[in-house]
Amino acid sequence: MKTTKYLSIYNELKNKILDGTFAIQSKLPSKRKLSSFYNVSVMTVDTAYQQLIAEGYVISYERKGYFVNDLPEHRFFDQPNMINRDNHQNQTTNIIERKKTTYFPHQIWAKISRKVLSDEMDMMDNQLDPEGLIGLRYEIKKYLEIYRGIIANVDQIVIGSGSQAMIQLIIAIIGRNYTFVMEEPGFPRLKSIIRHSGINLMTKEIDHQGIMIHQLNENQPTILHVTPSHQYPMGVIMPIARRIECLNWANSQHHRYILEDDYDSEFRYQGLPIPALQSLDQSSKVIYMNTFSKSLSPSLKINYLVIPKSLLNVYQDIKFSMPCSVPIFEQKVLMTFMKEQHFERHLNKVKKIYRKKALMIIEALREENHIQISGYESGLHMVLSFDPMINVKKMIKMINQKNLHLKRIDDYYDHRPKDCRDFMFEYAALSDTEISKTLKAIKESLHAM
Ligand SMILES: Cc1ncc(COP(=O)(O)O)c(C=O)c1O
Repeated sequence: MKTTKYLSIYNELKNKILDGTFAIQSKLPSKRKLSSFYNVSVMTVDTAYQQLIAEGYVISYERKGYFVNDLPEHRFFDQPNMINRDNHQNQTTNIIERKKTTYFPHQIWAKISRKVLSDEMDMMDNQLDPEGLIGLRYEIKKYLEIYRGIIANVDQIVIGSGSQAMIQLIIAIIGRNYTFVMEEPGFPRLKSIIRHSGINLMTKEIDHQGIMIHQLNENQPTILHVTPSHQYPMGVIMPIARRIECLNWANSQHHRYILEDDYDSEFRYQGLPIPALQSLDQSSKVIYMNTFSKSLSPSLKINYLVIPKSLLNVYQDIKFSMPCSVPIFEQKVLMTFMKEQHFERHLNKVKKIYRKKALMIIEALREENHIQISGYESGLHMVLSFDPMINVKKMIKMINQKNLHLKRIDDYYDHRPKDCRDFMFEYAALSDTEISKTLKAIKESLHAM
């Protein structure tokens, strides 16, 4: 990735905010001042400020300028971590989710597959490390460093098949005495996986910044599952203050970890990608999890974890009982795909396509009075919320009749809200014709009400 001027200004300002050089609520230098200081255009400084605003470091007040946001003090945890194992009750959530994908790079994938098959004759004779193929882990490490701000050693990266394998591995590392806390609303399949594993699961409400930390239980060993780069399903991006609150919560007791699920972070349509929460973790409390399900294909079934250093010893002890669940051939192909920079090119290509689709929806619904759109800055879906003037029951009936591509968000709650007016529009996997049809039907029904 090209290091642009705005990127270095953004980094410098961010670091000065984090290390306290720029105090909380203090006024930051004007765009004009910084542009002459760095000898760049005002536009370049503005781009850096817009990114800092998007991440929650900075607030801008009209005609007053830019100010450091009110960030909580960042506490650290530096005592050795202890792991307990125990059993928990079993509950299930039975919501089935269907996924579609398009734009898979078939031709280049086929070409690399043929090459791997003919060049790597001894591949099938080799034993695979439990962590996965070292070359692929190295490519993932490089990707994480550049695009997610994560500095990890290759030995912290472990490959597995599907989020189920990743959750099983985490449970094998930390034991069964932990309660998983997930966001409400949240990812139903993950809830099922956790409950089927016999692990205690609790859900806690989110607000417009993500999970509300004050709701978390004080004493029991807890893993907090969060989706900070694009909350699933509400699309909220967790600002820096809430990220620090999450870390402070984890850092204030031994038996607390955060599971950062960065599942569609590759797709951000404005400014820079927002660095992972893990990149702020200095106390080895964040387990990072990601997948190639969204960025390449759900059928590929390749996922990975970045295990924090505090848990690496335990992982080393158990890893031979958790062999890698992804075949070596797929790993070699993906490794080559990444190494030859096809992954980067593929992401850039599909990001453009998805951005165009998102704009098409925003543009089409802009003039509508009773509908609000949110969560469109990143990810592969956005949220449509209907105001109280709209009869949501009628809307649901219409959606079912017309087979529209909208999902009811109340299905993603453990405790269904009485009057949920939010719908998820998973537009990325839809053709332009399908999107147009859905938009037309939404408009017609809005006007008919
Ligand atoms: C929140 C969240 N996490 C993770 C995943 C990826 O799961 P998998 O890689 O098992 O398909 C998804 C996929 O939809 C998701 O929505």
